[in-house]
Amino acid sequence: MRARAALASAAVLLLLAGGCAGAMYKVGDLDAWGVPPPSKPDVYKSWAKSVHFALGDSIWFLYPPSQDSVLQVTPEAFAACDLANPVLKLADGNSVFNLTTPGRAYYTSGAPGHCRKGQKLWVDVPMANGTYLQPSASDLAALAPTPAAEAPEGFLQASAPAGAHPSAAELRAVAGAGSVVAAVALALLL
Ligand SMILES: *[C@@H]1O[C@H](CO)[C@@H](O)[C@H](O)[C@H]1NC(C)=O
Ligand SMILES: *[C@@H]1O[C@H](CO)[C@@H](O)[C@H](O)[C@H]1NC(C)=O
Repeated sequence: MRARAALASAAVLLLLAGGCAGAMYKVGDLDAWGVPPPSKPDVYKSWAKSVHFALGDSIWFLYPPSQDSVLQVTPEAFAACDLANPVLKLADGNSVFNLTTPGRAYYTSGAPGHCRKGQKLWVDVPMANGTYLQPSASDLAALAPTPAAEAPEGFLQASAPAGAHPSAAELRAVAGAGSVVAAVALALLL
């Protein structure tokens, strides 16, 4: 544990160039930027929570440039994994994004399919005095769970009243129907 913590803090580099101090944090610490492994599905969420960013800090993504890239995206594009019109795209394998705007900043992999496999993260950047902005309406919408939208149309309404969690019997019924997609969507609701 001690060695790991030491290595993790070594991933924080202080930039003191030009009298402008800002910390640089390596995204994922010891993990390179990639699709989260099954053992760590929330690796980017945990990482972002572990860091208290300040305005002017930077985040650094390290990955094989032939296999991946990083897109900064809008909250809407983040929620939909829409890679079409990024705010900023870096693909050199060694990408630094500067946190120069207070608010929530959203990033995703630019490799096809990776966003939907969880290779995405958001960070909260406070104002210069350390105060955080309230999440905007699009921030709240971006992080709202959307499993119902992915279930077959009419399926959830048929088996559960709005807002209710499906019962075990309903889950068994779903499993019996052999619909893996619907079962996953219901599991996300629980
Ligand atoms: C981040 O800031 C550094 C130092 O000012 C600059 O060289 C670099 O181009 C900036 N990166 C981006 C992606 O804007
Ligand atoms: C920080 O700055 C913002 C915007 O200038 C201001 O609204 C807020 O009250 C400040 N907070 C503190 C704790 O000074």
